[in-house]
Amino acid sequence: MTIPTVQLNDGFDIPQLGYGVFKVPPADTERAVTEALEVGYRHIDTAAIYGNEEGVGAAIAKSGIPRRELFITTKLWNDRHEGDEPRKAIGESLDKLGLERVDLYLVHWPTPAKDNYLEAWQKLIELREAGLTRSIGVSNFLVPHLERIVAATGVVPAVDQIELHPAHQQRDVTTWAAAQGVRIEAWGPLGQGKYDLFGIPAVKDTATAHDKSPAQVVLRWHLQKGFIVFPKSVRRERLEENLDVLDFTLSDAEMAAIDAIDPGDGTGRVSAHPDEVE
Ligand SMILES: NC(=O)c1ccc[n+]([C@@H]2O[C@H](COP(=O)([O-])OP(=O)(O)OC[C@H]3O[C@@H](n4cnc5c(N)ncnc54)[C@H](OP(=O)(O)O)[C@@H]3O)[C@@H](O)[C@H]2O)c1
Repeated sequence: MTIPTVQLNDGFDIPQLGYGVFKVPPADTERAVTEALEVGYRHIDTAAIYGNEEGVGAAIAKSGIPRRELFITTKLWNDRHEGDEPRKAIGESLDKLGLERVDLYLVHWPTPAKDNYLEAWQKLIELREAGLTRSIGVSNFLVPHLERIVAATGVVPAVDQIELHPAHQQRDVTTWAAAQGVRIEAWGPLGQGKYDLFGIPAVKDTATAHDKSPAQVVLRWHLQKGFIVFPKSVRRERLEENLDVLDFTLSDAEMAAIDAIDPGDGTGRVSAHPDEVE
């Protein structure tokens, strides 16, 4: 089984399917990431605010997997956008991860009320030039935020990591991103378990037809849409299940039925609106 890669706009490849560790308890992270690496994941998505970068680093160190085979993402938290803070923050993350550089560093939220996401983006450009991260991107940026940072710097983010699943497809952002060459990373790809995606006939019946689980059908939908995903689980059997999505294909009709799940009025969103997070 080879996990597909997609190319970012800076020429680097990223594994399209990875493992996200939001809400993996710090004390359990080394075990969970070790199991993820054992079952075949090579792309890990963490963040300073998750408090578990040390566990990710410990698992990487003990795995013996060559650094070049791993793709590690972490993120700049909201209270560190200004001045020297981004450089200090990435330094702290690298120390915890035990790495000299990450593969992808993201501005975690735009926090537009503070009006400092442009400064954060300018600082990430410097961190990339300093070799502390190979690629740079943003998270939870909506079209106006994206347009502003690109207009001001001329540097287009490699990715925008946004809440995205069949019930909340953010078509305005995905359309803009496709036109500008920005890859979409879909966080909460399974709706965080808060939205009953798995009971919807377009998912449930498709799963039965392919002898797969509803979660596998949703993840397959993401991959066929071209999104990058990193579902979270603390259970080894689900880590395996979520990786076992490369041996079947959804038909155009099955894809269209899942496309139609989004109510289109924002009510499918399971987490905070980016304009409201500070
Ligand atoms: N940039 C951001 O602001 C942001 C925000 C949120 C998340 N993220 C990133 O995106 C990653 C994924 O999103 P997420 O963790 O929020 O949500 P998610 O992956 O959509 O859902 C995780 C939930 O689904 C359950 N689950 C996992 N696999 C399953 C399966 N095969 N069948 C049934 N249930 C399953 C997990 O439970 P168990 O653990 O008990 O299996 C957990 O409760 C995060 O880990 C993080 O890296 C980024």
